[in-house]
Amino acid sequence: MAMFVMKPISLMLLYLLLVGVAISTAPLTAGNNDHRQFVYSGFANASLTLDGTASITPSGLLELTNSTAMSMGRAFFPDPLRLRDPSPTGTVQSFSASFVFGIISVYDMMSSHGLTLFVAPSKNFPAMPVQYLGLFDGSNNGNASNHIFAVELDTWQNVDFGDINNNHVGIDVNGLTSVRSYPAGFFHDQNGTFRNLTLSSQEAMQVWVEYDREKTRVDVTLAPLAMAKPREPTVSAICNLSDVLTDVAYIGFSSSTGKINTQHYVLGWSFAMNSPAPSIDLTMLPKLPRHHPKGRRSWVLEIVLPVATAALLLSLGAIAFLLVRRHFRYAEVRDNWESDFGPHRFSYKDLFHATGGFENKNLLGVGGFGRVYKGVLPRSRLKVAVKKVSHDSRQGMKEFIAEIVSLGRLQNRNLVQLLGYCRRKGELLLVYEYMPNGSLDKYLHNGKEGNVVLSWAQRFRIIKGIASGLLYLHEEWEKVVVHRDIKASNVLLDDEMNGRLGDFGLARLYDHGADPQTTHVVGTIGYLAPELARSGNAAPATDVFAFGIFVLEVTCGQRPVNHQNTQDSQVMLVDWVLDKVQKGSFGDTVDSRLKGRHDGGEAYLALKIGLLCSHPFADARPTMRQVMQYFGGEIQPPDLCFEVLACMQREELDPYIISSRLSSTTRISAMSDVSGGR
Ligand SMILES: *[C@@H]1O[C@H](CO)[C@@H](O)[C@H](O)[C@H]1NC(C)=O
Ligand SMILES: *[C@@H]1O[C@H](CO)[C@@H](O)[C@H](O)[C@H]1NC(C)=O
Ligand SMILES: *[C@@H]1O[C@H](CO)[C@@H](O)[C@H](O)[C@H]1NC(C)=O
Ligand SMILES: *[C@@H]1O[C@H](CO)[C@@H](O)[C@H](O)[C@H]1NC(C)=O
Ligand SMILES: *[C@@H]1O[C@H](CO)[C@@H](O)[C@H](O)[C@H]1NC(C)=O
Ligand SMILES: *[C@@H]1O[C@H](CO)[C@@H](O)[C@H](O)[C@H]1NC(C)=O
Repeated sequence: MAMFVMKPISLMLLYLLLVGVAISTAPLTAGNNDHRQFVYSGFANASLTLDGTASITPSGLLELTNSTAMSMGRAFFPDPLRLRDPSPTGTVQSFSASFVFGIISVYDMMSSHGLTLFVAPSKNFPAMPVQYLGLFDGSNNGNASNHIFAVELDTWQNVDFGDINNNHVGIDVNGLTSVRSYPAGFFHDQNGTFRNLTLSSQEAMQVWVEYDREKTRVDVTLAPLAMAKPREPTVSAICNLSDVLTDVAYIGFSSSTGKINTQHYVLGWSFAMNSPAPSIDLTMLPKLPRHHPKGRRSWVLEIVLPVATAALLLSLGAIAFLLVRRHFRYAEVRDNWESDFGPHRFSYKDLFHATGGFENKNLLGVGGFGRVYKGVLPRSRLKVAVKKVSHDSRQGMKEFIAEIVSLGRLQNRNLVQLLGYCRRKGELLLVYEYMPNGSLDKYLHNGKEGNVVLSWAQRFRIIKGIASGLLYLHEEWEKVVVHRDIKASNVLLDDEMNGRLGDFGLARLYDHGADPQTTHVVGTIGYLAPELARSGNAAPATDVFAFGIFVLEVTCGQRPVNHQNTQDSQVMLVDWVLDKVQKGSFGDTVDSRLKGRHDGGEAYLALKIGLLCSHPFADARPTMRQVMQYFGGEIQPPDLCFEVLACMQREELDPYIISSRLSSTTRISAMSDVSGGR
């Protein structure tokens, strides 16, 4: 926007009086022809004379150079100025100019080459880009016939012209070797200290250029935009411009670029003869284009950004991986019906952490139903045993869970308490209270605890305890629960060496096995009742059979099936005991490791009950309630008559032979006892 203002006549007269110039018609006529002052607060609609790359942008910026390398651009105020007063000895009058500029470079804090405000005799004088700033050329630099005065804002140190640095303000007369120059910056009004400014900082700055005719002094002052003009100029020079400039002259800007693509902008401009330059309306100024200089870009875009992007992608990938892993690692299966058992449901994550990720060092044992791990629950610090049972079928799961959860509700001191469960795909996890002394079979047979000999009192208490636990399952709970897998390795010992029956109900799960082709006969060879091997139907009586074998095992300290010296001959414990009984040497059957330190009556009772319970005919076995009564002495057990003994020895009813025949055609699960323990 241009404002061509003719000074009001009255002001002009006042001025003439003040400076003491004799009143004549000359200044008035001169005033009629001269544009004495102008202000551009932005250049929209301004009719400047442009050449080279200079243009006015739609937003009103005077763009002297666009980002073309090795280019130059100039812009002139369109009309000539009459600088000298019209007297015969007319000297160049005082004038002042101010402008706002901005230098935008592709590099941070580095640009080429600079821009000037100049006064020149014509609008068409030879000039070159790069170091000549669009003001001079290779031949006329420094030639007094140029009649050019300029203020340079130079961002390139050219030693040919004696440049002090690559960021300076210089006063030039007829050439680029400055009369005076100084680093770009300003002096604080308050304390006179100098503050550097960077010309190519991409920030707009303001410059004031003032010529004092009386003192023949040029003052150039630089300041950040929006700062009042500092009192102390940045650089000044005594310089009689009357010796330099022509009477009729043109004022304008020139600029050039070198190899670094730089845009030189002028945002606003004002000029006045014989008075301070009118102030530019800073609020009206167009905005400098936002530019990410290459220096910063090379850091931010070319190194930091790719690295940051890669890092971001990596971390997103890692998070996704962790989430997916977490999803799969801790994935569970949950059905609607389980809401009833909510309190008994453990999260897989808790169990995973409790057992140290099911680490092998926490493995307590491997049984027929799966691996058992020791664990400590994260919040309660409660010690637990976690049994991992492979199970693919959802069939029967509801009934099974309902049963074990309901069993877990009532505490029986002869049952290992089930604390809860968790389900995953193909896996069921059962959480039991932890039994610090492990399983009984390890004490009975050669194992880790094999050298610890359980006393007779301990054994008798364990036998009675298991009988009581089994009675509870068979008769004292809401419904009949058949354990199906009674054996020494399923009897766990608590901290007081009380026997506790574990794994109850678990066998039931295998009645609904995933594979309909196989009939799972659950149980352990040696403990299998003959009728179970025949029909596969578990009943309380089949538990009683296994209990009988168990009693014999504990009393005699021998496995249900003994491998004798020769590999082929396997002797059933029952047969061995029967043999001894028939020979009248009952006492020889009691575990020799007790070294006779046992109660003979109790041992006889236990052996008798063991034999009665392991009767081949289910109907001939006592119930668990009767067994408890025998132990309690309320009822005398029947005598082992000859018929009974003979009947038990009939070979075709031999439980082992029947079950081993069966095992050749039918898969027998849970053979853990034969394969070497839980
Ligand atoms: C420039 O001129 C156009 C039309 O001539 C006008 O609409 C616009 O307001 C002017 N802009 C300025 C900043 O004077
Ligand atoms: C710079 O200006 C020149 C001359 O006006 C023009 O040919 C060129 O395309 C411009 N370059 C850019 C990047 O604007
Ligand atoms: C200065 O320029 C004028 C006119 O172009 C020329 O005649 C003169 O020789 C030049 N002087 C020098 C020292 O180059
Ligand atoms: C001088 O004054 C300016 C403005 O008050 C202040 O920012 C600067 O720190 C001062 N410098 C010294 C050396 O006191
Ligand atoms: C200002 O810049 C000059 C030249 O680059 C340097 O010597 C001086 O130390 C700078 N001064 C301050 C205060 O930064
Ligand atoms: C400046 O130069 C002109 C012409 O050479 C001369 O008339 C005038 O006296 C000079 N001014 C000063 C202050 O020296």
